[in-house]
Amino acid sequence: MGLVPESARAVCSRLDSFSCEPNLLADLILGPGERQQWMSMHAVQKRRHEWLLGRCAAKDAVRRLLEKHLNLQLSPREIEIVPDSYGCPRVQYAGIEPGAQPALSIAHSQGVAVALAALVPGLMVGIDLESLSRRRENYEAIAFHPDERSLLDALPWDLREEWALRMWCAKEAAGKALGRGLSAGLLAFHIVRLNTAGGSIELQLRGSALEQFPWFQDRMLTINTARESNFVFSAIIYQQGAVRMRPSRQEILDYLLHKMSELTADWDYPDPVSPESRLFGELGFESLDAVVLCTAIQEHYQTPMPFAELLAEIGQQQRDLSIAELTDFVDTHLGPPAGADHATRRIQ
Ligand SMILES: CC(C)(COP(=O)(O)OP(=O)(O)OC[C@H]1O[C@@H](n2cnc3c(N)ncnc32)[C@H](O)[C@@H]1OP(=O)(O)O)[C@@H](O)C(=O)NCCC(=O)NCCS
Repeated sequence: MGLVPESARAVCSRLDSFSCEPNLLADLILGPGERQQWMSMHAVQKRRHEWLLGRCAAKDAVRRLLEKHLNLQLSPREIEIVPDSYGCPRVQYAGIEPGAQPALSIAHSQGVAVALAALVPGLMVGIDLESLSRRRENYEAIAFHPDERSLLDALPWDLREEWALRMWCAKEAAGKALGRGLSAGLLAFHIVRLNTAGGSIELQLRGSALEQFPWFQDRMLTINTARESNFVFSAIIYQQGAVRMRPSRQEILDYLLHKMSELTADWDYPDPVSPESRLFGELGFESLDAVVLCTAIQEHYQTPMPFAELLAEIGQQQRDLSIAELTDFVDTHLGPPAGADHATRRIQ
């Protein structure tokens, strides 16, 4: 699906159908506690089947994750998925070290189930999917704040429906990653930016969600989204104090251009700010403006970067710095690109 960077210690699994008759499958894959849950589940068949399909996808993701990163071979039955008091799925297996459980998220819709499991301690993961073919009347007025609806209004009409659903999926994935779902309210997950080229969505917590998780004040959650045939998917892998989804160079450039337009909103430039714009000679930056910009970049990516050295070097060489060069600098200091097994970065 391209939702999860290869560098993350995470595995995503998708199932579109049962491999055998559901009751037989339940006997084969469920642990004792799960079997009890399956037997006592008084729900419509659609719900029971999606629950079971979700368990299959989740066990598959956890099994492959443990095999790949811990060389641990477990059968689906040995991996139990137990909901916590909020409904968030937690992984259990014999011999698991306290605090070392993989993080897990599950979603199912229209006969398809997906699961995302990740191994780094303290990591939060969330996944969601929705079908574009399911008919929905006018959910935007309730699901989105007017500012969020204006992000949609700015899109070409043929992208609107899909991106509304991506935005919805992003909210659900974020709610799941935090372990409380959308219980804080739909508007407590406030989308601030859409990157239609790369598929990512940036979101901030507000209201009750921020009261539950105050350390997310001024933090951005980046959710990756993708479309595959008639489904849209979203996924987030987040560790407090770290950004797991490494942005591409284009995403960094988009962010810098956006940040520049924010910082210089009332500076009255004759030309639009472009990648070639130079901070000092052209845009009229003073040293303190550059420090403010560098601090904002560091905060945004939750990664310390040697900006002091960069600014000193520019001063010594009496040269200017373009936004494109700044993009390259950030790109270099965010660490290796997807594909290399890089560790989680933390701000000191
Ligand atoms: C969690 C929630 C986002 C799920 O959304 P959904 O569209 O109903 O269902 P999805 O297929 O996307 O996801 C279902 C899975 O989410 C997971 N889930 C449920 N509660 C969760 C929580 N608090 N944190 C993380 N994951 C959770 C479960 O694994 C569930 O699958 P399972 O019951 O088969 O194990 C939603 O039910 C929710 O927000 N619940 C909180 C209660 C609430 O206030 N709901 C009203 C909001 S409109």
